Amino acid sequence: MQLFLDTTDTAVLKDLAATGLVDGVTTNPTLIAKSGRNMLEVIAEICEIVEGPVSAEVAAMDTAGMLAEGQKLAAVATNVVVKVPLTRAGLIATREFSAQGIQTNVTLCFSAAQALLAAKAGATYISPFIGRLDDQGAVGMDLINEIRAIYDNYDFDTEILAASIRTPKHVTEAALAGADCATIPPAVFEALFKHPLTEAGLQQFMADWSKTGQSIL
Ligand code: G3P
Repeated sequence: MQLFLDTTDTAVLKDLAATGLVDGVTTNPTLIAKSGRNMLEVIAEICEIVEGPVSAEVAAMDTAGMLAEGQKLAAVATNVVVKVPLTRAGLIATREFSAQGIQTNVTLCFSAAQALLAAKAGATYISPFIGRLDDQGAVGMDLINEIRAIYDNYDFDTEILAASIRTPKHVTEAALAGADCATIPPAVFEALFKHPLTEAGLQQFMADWSKTGQSIL
């Protein structure tokens, strides 16, 4: 499973990328707004920090506008993936980007029917939003399972990028469901390392080791 960070905070990204466990980055207009920075500059910096795929989302709502913006975003760096909304205009743009060899991440996916259309349009990634479905009282993980089954039935190449991740359990459940990637907020990524029994066990090991008076070096 590829683990992406869902952030525009380049300081946090550098810190976590140093673990060697960050495979890519996703951004969206809300995260760009939170950064307070010029979009092209922050995307360029992110693409320098992480060599894997970096999703940068168009702001246009019409196909022609998406194509123009997407080509500008794709020119920022070779690892830019153009993110487009799952709309009729967005899927028409996705087909054109696919024909041009530009990688796409089709976002704001909330149904298996939408995901089927995105795969037929040639999307590189599909982003089903788990947390936002949970917020509505649905079971967001059911969507990941449905998309996995449909994509496997027809051998679609589109990769399932589990998004709107809120907890470490979302990450493990998405992995169990067969998602290809998960895009994870930094705080959740940090939580993946931790378990109280690991901490307690390590403290006990160190306490017992110190009693030996030994040094390995
Ligand atoms: O990449 C999509 C993600 O940023 C949305 O997450 O928590 O706003 O639903 P959230």
